[in-house]
Amino acid sequence: MEDTFRFRYMRDEDIDQVLAVEHASFTMPWSREAFYNELHNNKFAVYLVLEHGDQIVGYCGVWIVLDEAHITNVAILPEYRGRKLGDAMMRKLMATAREMGARSMTLEVRVTNYVAQSLYRKMGFQNGGIRKNYYSDNQEDALVMWVNL
Ligand SMILES: CC(C)(COP(=O)(O)OP(=O)(O)OC[C@H]1O[C@@H](n2cnc3c(N)ncnc32)[C@H](O)[C@@H]1OP(=O)(O)O)[C@@H](O)C(=O)NCCC(=O)NCCS
Repeated sequence: MEDTFRFRYMRDEDIDQVLAVEHASFTMPWSREAFYNELHNNKFAVYLVLEHGDQIVGYCGVWIVLDEAHITNVAILPEYRGRKLGDAMMRKLMATAREMGARSMTLEVRVTNYVAQSLYRKMGFQNGGIRKNYYSDNQEDALVMWVNL
């Protein structure tokens, strides 16, 4: 990753830009209130943003409960995709979770989201079970993936 990009923890003032990434990335985007709650009312939540200058080009989040980390979101702005930023962001998130005491990491991903699955497999994630009808917009199944950190 070029050194014009940097990671830092998400702050309240980032929410507008994170919402732009969110809406460009997901069919069921989280609301402003959801992000605010994660930052203020969820002691298990850790959110990182990826900045390029003063633009937020990606963000990710995880809940760390004891030694288990559960990824909530991973997204890169469409015009920045395919430049190994998702790769760098996942490595950073995994390292951060490990430093905070997590020993394993899990996530759900749409069964048709082959790009994200490919990224996670590259990071060492393995297939777990299937959660049927997990996504309420189209009743799509979720593939559970996990990795030891
Ligand atoms: C998934 C996502 C974060 C990947 O970010 P990215 O910056 O484009 O990914 P990278 O350039 O770092 O690529 C990392 C790996 O992802 C996979 N990948 C990325 N783009 C791909 C494509 N067009 N086709 C297939 N695999 C692809 C590959 O495994 C790639 O590794 P490789 O380049 O060594 O083959 C991004 O596509 C995104 O934001 N998608 C929408 C949101 C989303 O689906 N999030 C995951 C929810 S569970």
